Amino acid sequence: MDFTTLGRTGLRVSRLGLGAGGHSRLGLSYGRSEVDAEAVVRAALDLGVNFFDTAEGYRTEEVVGRGLRDVPRHQIVISTKAGVGWQERRSTPDEYRNRIDACLERLQTDYIDIFHIHGARVEDYDYARDALVPVLKDSQRQGKIRFVGVTEAFGPDPTHEMLKLAVRDDCWDVVMVGFNILNQSAREIALKPYLERSVGMLCMFAVRRALSHPAALSDLMSKLAAEGLIDPKSFNPEDPLGFLVKEGGASSVTEAAYRFCRWEPGLDVILTGTGSIDHLRENARAINLPPLPTEIVDRLRAMFRGIDSVSGN
Ligand SMILES: NC(=O)c1ccc[n+]([C@@H]2O[C@H](COP(=O)([O-])OP(=O)(O)OC[C@H]3O[C@@H](n4cnc5c(N)ncnc54)[C@H](OP(=O)(O)O)[C@@H]3O)[C@@H](O)[C@H]2O)c1
Repeated sequence: MDFTTLGRTGLRVSRLGLGAGGHSRLGLSYGRSEVDAEAVVRAALDLGVNFFDTAEGYRTEEVVGRGLRDVPRHQIVISTKAGVGWQERRSTPDEYRNRIDACLERLQTDYIDIFHIHGARVEDYDYARDALVPVLKDSQRQGKIRFVGVTEAFGPDPTHEMLKLAVRDDCWDVVMVGFNILNQSAREIALKPYLERSVGMLCMFAVRRALSHPAALSDLMSKLAAEGLIDPKSFNPEDPLGFLVKEGGASSVTEAAYRFCRWEPGLDVILTGTGSIDHLRENARAINLPPLPTEIVDRLRAMFRGIDSVSGN
């Protein structure tokens, strides 16, 4: 497994991170047992992954904690999060403090490496920074968390409006950003400015639904063409990104999608969400492969230039 340094945190992190959320939630979303989900966590460890992302809202913190329990704590990096809102209103600072303690309890750990404000919306951003970041800083002083992060709500915010605000503040050690072949708008808006500030960057939505389900990709591409956002002559509607395999030498569109993100400057860790150990093995292999050929990357950049309305969900 390839490793890198996560921006100013200095943490050594695997290039592939296991995400315990998304559509799969380690397989729990489609009926796998908690024992199976723990096995996915352990398979990731066996593949050399040391970065694990979960959240209060995913209801996977316990499973992740159990999957990691036999590993010396300093060998792994645990990222978790709690949103601004709880039970349809904003948490007070005291409530947020209690939510951090509850995350520690569920993860069965003494400290969390990165605690993020989860899915912050533009309208909540000032509150998050002024009322909740001080709680995170207190927790940092108490040794409960090591670094402070924020994640965007990429589905409703595909143009990165929250991250445009957050880049002005120096309180974020790490950000989680939506980026993939279909919506590369973060490159200029987020990746470059955060990289200049040495903020660690985690990539979510590398594959999501459209880049792992051929029918969903065809539907999305037809929609983009109908909206005039993509040239209908630039792709075959039956197999829109087939050239990644035929000409690009990738073994699948999904593999190409993870590789595309892996080699994007600024992105440190590419998160993969899966409940399948076979998929996890494929994805670990993809992350360790070289970049896609330059002409293929250039074609993807040109094809999706200007698209900032989709997440690939
Ligand atoms: N706002 C936020 O903070 C936020 C939002 C979204 C996500 N996240 C984090 O980012 C992580 C990654 O997002 P994501 O879970 O959506 O991940 P993703 O890796 O972009 O997409 C995962 C989807 O692709 C499928 N898949 C994965 N590998 C595959 C393969 N080799 N072949 C075919 N299908 C494959 C998975 O299904 P299978 O289970 O069948 O493999 C799942 O449906 C999340 O788990 C979460 O930790 C954070």
